[in-house]
Amino acid sequence: MDKEAKKIALRMLVHGVYIVGAGEGEDAVANGITWLTQASFEPPLVMAAIRVDGRLHEAVQKAGAFSVNLVSVEQQEMVQTFFKPAETRGDTINGYAFEPGPATGSPIFADAPAWFEVRVRHSFHSGDHSVFVGEVVEAGVRDAEAKPLALHDTPWQYGG
Ligand SMILES: Cc1cc2nc3c(=O)[nH]c(=O)nc-3n(C[C@H](O)[C@H](O)[C@H](O)COP(=O)(O)O)c2cc1C
Repeated sequence: MDKEAKKIALRMLVHGVYIVGAGEGEDAVANGITWLTQASFEPPLVMAAIRVDGRLHEAVQKAGAFSVNLVSVEQQEMVQTFFKPAETRGDTINGYAFEPGPATGSPIFADAPAWFEVRVRHSFHSGDHSVFVGEVVEAGVRDAEAKPLALHDTPWQYGG
């Protein structure tokens, strides 16, 4: 295989950018992730690929659930802080206020224009990321007009 072609082709996959969280209280963590998509209408399933060696992976496994916080094109600065290790202080992670989701307790950010909570149904451990497939069990919308941030709208790369 031509490794450069593989890298370029994989980077042409179109992804969003999200803040995914898991855990409660002082154990709550959240990271910026891009490998996430819907996987079924009924039941409503999504799948997320999460780095095996990160704290988020451990938190999702322990809680059996995670939250997905949508972000708008105006929130690049916010997402960027979640590419660094999560620092939880009281009801903030990396300086952003959150509250526990009503269904799973996973962190929901006050600034997210929309969010949903996911209960893990399956997980596949293979490679340097695990794939978690889960059911959307709760959702909320604060700003239905927000334009969601896409990875290709940013200077960032993840993939290849
Ligand atoms: C543009 C971009 C996209 C990312 N997408 C993912 C992803 O899909 N899955 C993932 O596990 N990590 C992803 N990361 C990495 C996490 O954000 C990063 O590993 C984490 O915030 C570091 O925290 P930790 O060291 O405490 O694990 C991405 C990073 C960047 C810069």
